[in-house]
Amino acid sequence: MRHLMSPLDLSKEELDDLLTLASDIEKNPKKYAHVCDDKRLATCFYEPSTRTRLSFEAAMMNLGGKVLGFSSADSSSASKGESVADTIRVVSCYADICAMRHPKEGAPLVASMASSIPVINAGDGGHQHPTQTLTDLLTIRSLKGRLDNLTIGLCGDLKFGRTVHSLIEALVLRYSNVKFVLISPEELRIPSYIREDVLKKNNIEFQEVERLEDALPDLDILYMTRVQKERFFNEEDYVRMKDFYILDKQKMELAKKDMYVLHPLPRVNEISTEVDADPRAAYFKQVQYGVYVRMALILTLLEVKLPC
Ligand code: CP
Repeated sequence: MRHLMSPLDLSKEELDDLLTLASDIEKNPKKYAHVCDDKRLATCFYEPSTRTRLSFEAAMMNLGGKVLGFSSADSSSASKGESVADTIRVVSCYADICAMRHPKEGAPLVASMASSIPVINAGDGGHQHPTQTLTDLLTIRSLKGRLDNLTIGLCGDLKFGRTVHSLIEALVLRYSNVKFVLISPEELRIPSYIREDVLKKNNIEFQEVERLEDALPDLDILYMTRVQKERFFNEEDYVRMKDFYILDKQKMELAKKDMYVLHPLPRVNEISTEVDADPRAAYFKQVQYGVYVRMALILTLLEVKLPC
């Protein structure tokens, strides 16, 4: 039995197979409509979510399966003090696979150790968000036709943005010749473990800059992120940082004609709504890719026999 805690739990070959399966699901959805008719997915979300929880549920329903779960710690017995280990032992009696989001880093890993069903990390604190990374990889591969030889700008809250950490690790350790431009204010720079242990250790070309305008002309992908209000210790710091970057029409004029803008969403103010009509704005397409890739992941972890 396999779990997914990090995108690096998948080898390069497994990642490529999963993305290829997701693309086949996109092209031939009917072929997969009943492959999980007898399966159940549990969504155990101890932290708010719109996309991740609902896309997991949509993914399982698209495969013919059923879903159950809870959407906040308050509505589960966590509010009475139940541990994640006990919770997953119970959920294992009700479902075949579980997607878990938790504010504490490592909580889904603790759950996986007590579980008798596959557990998927659906986001743990400021640490990892592997299924967002799979979504991002599928989006980039579908739009650019490759995951190698790219210059990727990551902009905003690079300190607390778990999607950024997962994406950098996956691109560095599974693909070739990806360069990074890390665009953030001083206080929200990438954590040192990513700078030292992932980027420098693997001799990856990267720069850290503060001005988005300076970075834009060279990018193939711009990955915008919101400032993570829920991870700040005080409101004053958040208010000072929250509107540091606002991507607007004027800034988009500096970018290549075939540069795409991604964002894991939710968006707050960091992308002006006037950018939504630009054909390079890919963040809502990215949401749709998130369903296909989660369908592919459920099939892979459940080892479902695929239709020919
Ligand atoms: N991208 C993402 O994780 O969104 P949600 O927090 O709405 O799940």
